[in-house]
Amino acid sequence: MTHKIILDTDPGIDDAMAIFFAFQAPEIEVLGLTTVFGNVPATMAAKNGLSLVELANKNIPVCLGAAMPHVGPESTYAHFVHGDDGFGNINHPAPTGDIDPRTSAEFIVEMARKYPGEITIVAVGPLSNLALALKLEPQLPSLVKAVNIMGGAAFVPGNVTPVAEANIWNDAYAAEIVFGASWPINMFGLDVTYDLPFPPNFTATLREQNQVLGGFVERAARFYTEFYSQGKDEPQCFFHDAFPLAYLIDPSLFEMTEGHLRVGTDPLHQGQTSFAPVGTTTSEHWLKMPLIRVATKVDHPRLTRCFIETYGK
Ligand code: BDR
Ligand code: CA
Repeated sequence: MTHKIILDTDPGIDDAMAIFFAFQAPEIEVLGLTTVFGNVPATMAAKNGLSLVELANKNIPVCLGAAMPHVGPESTYAHFVHGDDGFGNINHPAPTGDIDPRTSAEFIVEMARKYPGEITIVAVGPLSNLALALKLEPQLPSLVKAVNIMGGAAFVPGNVTPVAEANIWNDAYAAEIVFGASWPINMFGLDVTYDLPFPPNFTATLREQNQVLGGFVERAARFYTEFYSQGKDEPQCFFHDAFPLAYLIDPSLFEMTEGHLRVGTDPLHQGQTSFAPVGTTTSEHWLKMPLIRVATKVDHPRLTRCFIETYGK
């Protein structure tokens, strides 16, 4: 069975790795990329998405999405992690095609109506587009099969503040709306993505598997690896955004814990994902939220093998 997905993304280097992983996976059919501000501003995210689609020779829509969080000022972006261009400053040529005229939220709603119950939204950037789509179509949760999110930190520290992960921190109000909607959510946060550091020979292997796509990731990830290797004995980097896609291919790679999640929106706790596994709280603040599933363990060798083999397909 192939999984129809919409990939909601803010490319971004690990986004690029994840997008190519999805393109290469025979189990996954990508209907389109919906882009959003996050690692880079919204217009750059859309152009970068289009560049990746063109590099992979795919003919799918790339939509421009939210440029601002639901509440508060423009984001500060993460150029220090992903480079000025979002691709580790590798001077990749600009795309030649056009951005789709539909907004990201419009595309999500249109596809969900066209394929009711069939689509998994894989969200690997701030959740702004999903919250906007819920506003456009309040029945969206009943039209969508599942939402697989890279974001949050349930039992580990954050990466933007001591309590908040970047995607959720970037639009905490949108995240609280998305986690409050009644659709099946699988969350892949720093609990699992920071558990699996990749050495530079991993991207070299991706290049050996696929000269064009793996080669791009290998070049782009040099800048990203420098960022993640500061203060470490050995160079390393992380491929956060590919995790929710791997779950589609093989759910047995992960151990999932069920519970209720709240997102902090006040300045001190902005983007904090406070998770209460089933049976651990009597607080209405959590119990009133829908049940979600959070990845709490990942099989390192099998996931690494899945990435490498899929790049070689
Ligand atoms: C997440 O934030 C972004 O920098 C990455 O692309 C990933 O989606 C990790 O916290
Ligand atoms: Ca991302």
